[in-house]
Amino acid sequence: MAHISDLIATDIDQYLKAHEHKSLLRFITCGSVDDGKSTLIGRLLYDSKMIFEDQLAALEADSKKVGTQGGDLDFALLVDGLAAEREQGITIDVAYRFFSTDKRKFIVADTPGHEQYTRNMVTGASTASLAVILIDANRGVLTQTRRHSFLVSLIGIKHIVLAINKMDMVGYSRAVFETILHDYLEFAKQIGLGSIVAIPMSALRGDNITELSPNTPWYTGPTLMGHLETVPIDDQSQTAPFRLPVQWVNRPNSDFRGFSGIITSGAVRPGDRLRVFPSGKESRVARIVTFDGDLDEAVAEQSVTITLEDEIDISRGSILAPADSPPGVADQFEVTVIWMAEERMFPGRQYWIKVGTKMAVGAVTALKHKINVNTLERLAAKTLELNEIGVGNLSLDQPIAFDPYAENRDTGGFIFIDRMTNRTVGAGLIHFALRRAENIPWQALEVNKQAHAAIKNQKACILWFTGLSGAGKSTIANLVEKRLYSMGHHTFLLDGDNVRHGLNRDLGFTDADRVENIRRVGEVARLMVDAGLIVLVSFISPFRGERRMARALVEAGEFIEVYVNTPLAVAEARDPKGLYKKARLGEIKNFTGIDSDYEPPENPEIMIDTAQVTPEEAANRIVRYLAERASIRDLGPEFSI
Ligand code: ADX
Repeated sequence: MAHISDLIATDIDQYLKAHEHKSLLRFITCGSVDDGKSTLIGRLLYDSKMIFEDQLAALEADSKKVGTQGGDLDFALLVDGLAAEREQGITIDVAYRFFSTDKRKFIVADTPGHEQYTRNMVTGASTASLAVILIDANRGVLTQTRRHSFLVSLIGIKHIVLAINKMDMVGYSRAVFETILHDYLEFAKQIGLGSIVAIPMSALRGDNITELSPNTPWYTGPTLMGHLETVPIDDQSQTAPFRLPVQWVNRPNSDFRGFSGIITSGAVRPGDRLRVFPSGKESRVARIVTFDGDLDEAVAEQSVTITLEDEIDISRGSILAPADSPPGVADQFEVTVIWMAEERMFPGRQYWIKVGTKMAVGAVTALKHKINVNTLERLAAKTLELNEIGVGNLSLDQPIAFDPYAENRDTGGFIFIDRMTNRTVGAGLIHFALRRAENIPWQALEVNKQAHAAIKNQKACILWFTGLSGAGKSTIANLVEKRLYSMGHHTFLLDGDNVRHGLNRDLGFTDADRVENIRRVGEVARLMVDAGLIVLVSFISPFRGERRMARALVEAGEFIEVYVNTPLAVAEARDPKGLYKKARLGEIKNFTGIDSDYEPPENPEIMIDTAQVTPEEAANRIVRYLAERASIRDLGPEFSI
């Protein structure tokens, strides 16, 4: 390897030591291949001599063969070659490249510039403290320059290098450089970008990369490498207060109980007074244990196990922090959402929300607007699609400890995880907690669900009928209700068609509206369970996610999913309301089973195969199920079938 340091050969220990104490700058490059991004990264790697000799030989050969530079080294080939090598077998959206000089170590996140730009850029930028925004001097500030800059400001990167590249193609013109810079600063003001250093360069020819170029005598600023080597790394993790999100409770035996995790910011010493969030209990640090022995101090990015002087209950996901610089604790927030999945984000739909090491269940309750990342315009939105960015409210099922993202990226940033597939589908940034929830305590009601149900001689529950339109849900639900009523039970049937005339008359049949339809009905059914009723819900309820949400609103065993399983062809042949016919003619859009999805239940409590049983038999089965689990009184001997 042709590395800059001869120490590698002569004194490897010395080399490693010097290396270890160098500071590390993480940065991201934004721009497309046309702007010369690959060439620039290749040039940085080449100039810092972090290229393996065999790669260099191959590069020379390739440059002669297929290079675009007439036999000169084509650095773009180098980077693109590395990318292809890495992408074999797995898809890596962001490539991280490492290089170093005598002064500093660098990790550069290289994000492909194609359609997935938002997702990739956000992933690459999330740990970066500087962004190099490339501009082609021939083309000036483009829409994509604005988009990249907006994302960089959103992620909170404070240092910007405006790399005005390909200066060789505009005759190293100072006027061109200054016009572009002026345009850019106008725009940067609107998004409140931090420090901007503009450098005229040619990545291809090497102007102002590591040495000031004689071609730009009018330029008095730093070279790119010089700037990267000296820019202050005002790393939030060093300046923010101490935070240790607990990853696991380490209890090898009854004498030892430690709390392990990676310190995301600040420093800690034995004797420090810490508070546990969200529980609020306090104690002092007894020991800071690591693999290499106890420490007198630990700082950001170190993995440690902390023991406390007092026995207090701490679980995974808690945050240890100083009592005098505490994180906030809340369960509702205003947030920015960056959507990263093909499936859209629907307000009201529940996801796993992971903030640091903490997992909660949550949903965006109201989407206030989305942002056109090209024009910065705010647009009304009902859903978010892949790569879209919006602002809304997030509501969680429990209070969590957090910091605003602007103060702490680790405790203020979060991800959305799909509850079915476990895939990461979005990222979010906490702006602030919504105070309104704090002022609405739960009223402790003395006449509770059990009391309401007991006076009716029954146990409250929800019979949730799901299935295609025309499957027979309402027919069966109606029979079940008649039977329960005749036995003296207190029931209520919520039927899709009827509820859509009242409470949900503002909703149509888009996926987003169906999610909201089911969310509301789930909440109404829950209130009715609290009132002690046996609630029958008859809605297509096509999505697993929302059925699961409704299930989670009540206690275990209170939600009985009844899948009325009728094949599409059969429901369509019956067509009791003539709607399938209209849907086939294109007169109704988004019709379930035709041009809108139905996700069948995987483990329903009761499955009714309507090809095998009559509605009466189905109703009897359901009533028997209720009797067996003692929701209703004994059926008596006269009840046969
Ligand atoms: S759900 O999908 O949101 O759960 P819901 O059960 O409330 O649907 O309403 C379904 C009823 O609305 C159907 O039984 C049918 O009578 C009527 N309907 C009208 N348009 C549609 C449509 N595009 N898709 C499904 N049902 C429709």
